[in-house]
Amino acid sequence: MNVELADGSLVSVVIPMFQAGAWIMGFFVLGIDRREIVSRLRPGNARRSVVAFDVDAGSIPYLPQFDCVLLLSVHHQWVAEQGDSVARKLVSLLSEKAEKTLVVEFACLNSKYGQPQAALFDDNDHEPVREYARGWLGETLPDFGFEFLGLNEEHPIDEPFRVLFGGHRTQGSALNLCLQ
Ligand SMILES: C[S@@+](CC[C@H](N)C(=O)[O-])C[C@H]1O[C@@H](n2cnc3c(N)ncnc32)[C@H](O)[C@@H]1O
Repeated sequence: MNVELADGSLVSVVIPMFQAGAWIMGFFVLGIDRREIVSRLRPGNARRSVVAFDVDAGSIPYLPQFDCVLLLSVHHQWVAEQGDSVARKLVSLLSEKAEKTLVVEFACLNSKYGQPQAALFDDNDHEPVREYARGWLGETLPDFGFEFLGLNEEHPIDEPFRVLFGGHRTQGSALNLCLQ
């Protein structure tokens, strides 16, 4: 997939099947995951690395600033495991680390979000998922302007696509990218 940065340039993001994060060619990339996941990975290289880091409200302030923070396939996990309000807090804190762009991927199956009291949308119906995502992001990050970036292939039968939104800041300077 291509992600457009605030300056109009495009970076190509390849999302691997395993939980290693992603590669962005030509940019410095920092991938983050839990220690038990990172310990299974091969070492990184000059432009790509994955570090063990538990993301929570206490740890996020220790992260540096990045041009772009990508929250790929993790938003629904936080909602399911920690609840909607904690997920909002984490995304809000991480947005402060994104000087230019924040990308968030939204799952298209209600079951991925745990057991919501009421259905969030019709499963795999992308327009209602987009409405859910737009509302969630608008309430959580009112200082960002978000736009629909496209659909991201997921599982051919259960969940063919995920929904990607990108939010832009108007100011920022660091030339790094942080992947979650
Ligand atoms: C479904 S995987 C997606 C991995 C990768 N972003 C991708 O798109 O291929 C979600 C990952 O987020 C990690 N994760 C979830 N909550 C986390 C947290 N609080 N801190 C660090 N990693 C977390 C999980 O361990 C899991 O490997």
